[in-house]
Amino acid sequence: MILHRAIAIDGPAASGKSTLARILAQRLGLIMVNSGAMYRAVTWRILQLGIDPADRAAVVDALRGMEIQCGVEGLDSTVRIDGIDPGDALRGEEVNSAVSAVAAVPEVRECLVSLQRDYLKLGDVVMEGRDIGSVVFPETPFKIYMDADPGVREARREVVGEVDSVAARDKADSGRATAPLKVADGAAILDTSGHSIESGVEAALEILAGQGFVMPAR
Ligand code: DC
Repeated sequence: MILHRAIAIDGPAASGKSTLARILAQRLGLIMVNSGAMYRAVTWRILQLGIDPADRAAVVDALRGMEIQCGVEGLDSTVRIDGIDPGDALRGEEVNSAVSAVAAVPEVRECLVSLQRDYLKLGDVVMEGRDIGSVVFPETPFKIYMDADPGVREARREVVGEVDSVAARDKADSGRATAPLKVADGAAILDTSGHSIESGVEAALEILAGQGFVMPAR
């Protein structure tokens, strides 16, 4: 069996994970997996079904009946729920405020972690989320924990016109019992507050080289 490589990028909301992961995927020819989109897609379906995201038993019941299809288009991960691609609704206000409750349900995490690990069968991946270095791929040597000042992170969301209570989500994501957001063993911390995108990418490439990641020949 071919062993593919995983780069794990974790951090709080709007710390720059998706931007960095996308650029790394393009430069290094990796599949980019946005694991938050998977939690968002399940949450979107829960809301669509009229289920209270705080009702764990009902969430688990609905999850059992859901068909979750994860794939790749180009180098990007895709997710369809019961045959539907939720599209822009994934980043809407309703999903933003309900996703932390759904992501705290252990059965939801177990199901999505298994789908996340399956991506490694397809090729080398860069995956971003909250527990990628600690739970999904604890064995990978390539781990970055991204952070930025809360004010900088809120401002990043506002610039793209998103209403997102970053602080409330961070509190819920860090405080939950199952797979809380934390710095994984072996992860290098990259604070992007004072970085431009390009200098953040350069810093990440240096970290990965230091962790032994062999870059593809240009
Ligand atoms: O990365 P994001 O902001 O799109 O993630 C949305 C939510 O999903 C986040 O508030 C917590 C949850 N999440 C998680 O619990 N574990 C992950 N690996 C990724 C996201």
